[in-house]
Amino acid sequence: MHILVINGPNLNMLGIREPDIYGKNTYADLCDMISAKAEEMNITVELFQSNHEGAIVDKIQEAYGKADGIVINPAAYTHTSVAILDALKAVAIPTCEVHISDVNSREEFRKISYVGLYAEKTFAGYGFDSYTMAMDYLKEKYN
Ligand code: DQA
Repeated sequence: MHILVINGPNLNMLGIREPDIYGKNTYADLCDMISAKAEEMNITVELFQSNHEGAIVDKIQEAYGKADGIVINPAAYTHTSVAILDALKAVAIPTCEVHISDVNSREEFRKISYVGLYAEKTFAGYGFDSYTMAMDYLKEKYN
């Protein structure tokens, strides 16, 4: 099984960015945790981060025929991007949406998720564990 993990804008700033909300661990720490989890699960994983909507759309399109599952934290694009939603629908790969923070208990605009209209499941508010929970969910589904 091969999973693509996509992180959207400003997630490269983890550790520096609003640590009271997102924690003190860095994007590199997140990547290490996901890679270790993939090894433990005996699956392969590709990690991708971009601050650009079009680059995320390109990456999703490239996953067609390659990835068996997508874990995506679209970050701010969660709440705005029809283009990312449409790309996920186009490739039709099983997808989980993840968020580090509990988006539903924050500002009103964070309660709207376009990606959530396609994602099979959303894990939000579990910190970095949201990603590993999504990986477990997709693996279970794949088996
Ligand atoms: C986030 C929540 C989004 O609302 C925000 O724009 C982010 C991060 C999260 O992981 O909690 O950039 O997706």
